[in-house]
Amino acid sequence: MIGIDNTSLDQVPKVTFQNVSFSWPGKKQLVINNCSFSINKQGLWMIVGKNGSGKSSLLKLITGLLKPSNGVINNSANFGMVFQNPDHQILMPNCRSELLLNINQKLSRKEITNKIDIALKKVGLTGFDKRPIHTLSGGQKQRLTIACCLIGDKNFILMDEPTALLDSSSQLKILKIIRDLTNNKKNPFTVLWITHRLEELIYADAVAEMKNGNLSDWQKPLNFQYN
Ligand SMILES: Nc1ncnc2c1ncn2[C@@H]1O[C@H](COP(=O)(O)OP(=O)(O)OP(=O)(O)O)[C@@H](O)[C@H]1O
Ligand SMILES: [Mg+2]
Repeated sequence: MIGIDNTSLDQVPKVTFQNVSFSWPGKKQLVINNCSFSINKQGLWMIVGKNGSGKSSLLKLITGLLKPSNGVINNSANFGMVFQNPDHQILMPNCRSELLLNINQKLSRKEITNKIDIALKKVGLTGFDKRPIHTLSGGQKQRLTIACCLIGDKNFILMDEPTALLDSSSQLKILKIIRDLTNNKKNPFTVLWITHRLEELIYADAVAEMKNGNLSDWQKPLNFQYN
């Protein structure tokens, strides 16, 4: 069995691709070629694949940023995204204002402060709410982007090479935070993580390879062979 067993299955965010193909406008070549897969259990799912194999395009199809040329995509998730470079997605001058951009504005002031404290704590940034963004390290910025997903009540984060710019200590912090989130059975949470760093695969519940626009079957990390 791949993924984590979950007691509250109906709350588990799911994604299904059925025979999905996609080509960029004006180009004949299929970047995604008759691709079918599902992510139907809570957990940390990782994808590897060569440059240009279509991994980032796949994420954009999942979020709906791109529409498939053929096939059907179903999802029941509230997606957040974390990119390789946090400077490409952080917009505001300090942590609190960045978090406020992502929160439900109808909450009371007290509820907002409470949610900010919880989100920052979950990513190891307690006490950082007033910190200017330019004073954060790369790893801290990346953890703030995860906190933004949490405060926005996302239940499925798509992470596109989130540790590519980080040293091994920051990489491990992010992996631990994501493992804790995806292991929490009370609050079903799923992450789809794209990586070129093969040492990360061992942290996954399931691993697949993107090749020629197609995703392989999901494998346990110990069984996974990357060609
Ligand atoms: N906006 C775009 N317009 C046209 N073609 C694009 C666009 N974005 C990506 N492509 C093309 O789609 C193909 C797949 O790119 P994609 O970025 O999905 O690959 P990837 O697997 O994420 O690669 P990498 O590991 O380098 O990030 C490539 O040939 C790329 O040039
Ligand atoms: Mg990419």
